[in-house]
Amino acid sequence: MELLYEELMDHYKDPRNYGVLKDFDIKESDSNPLCGDEILFTIKLEDERIKDIKFSGAGCAISRSSDSILTEYVKGRSINEILKMSNDDFLKIYGFKPSAMRVKCALLGFIALKKAILRYLNQPIKNVP
Ligand code: FES
Repeated sequence: MELLYEELMDHYKDPRNYGVLKDFDIKESDSNPLCGDEILFTIKLEDERIKDIKFSGAGCAISRSSDSILTEYVKGRSINEILKMSNDDFLKIYGFKPSAMRVKCALLGFIALKKAILRYLNQPIKNVP
């Protein structure tokens, strides 16, 4: 189902899970090399599942809304399940089809999250684009 523009703007103006956790197991930042926008995740795990997650940083409407939707989606899910997701899987969950130029914006948080989990697991991140 395609995300309506109004829903996207709602996530942009009122992002869910925005902020920084005081008690976390993972803290990781990443940036979009094309624009310099940054994201910071703090994540609390329990039994290899995401118990809580927050994000912060500067980003465009697409990156901020996708980070908001991403953090809602991954709460309660296992980190292995998240690692198995492809970029296309996440773009379907995001639900808004960005232009080819803006796909990196929509994937900034998702890719950063996968890298953060891999680093936490001490696994190589070479297969994450
Ligand atoms: Fe920077 Fe979209 S323009 S993340």
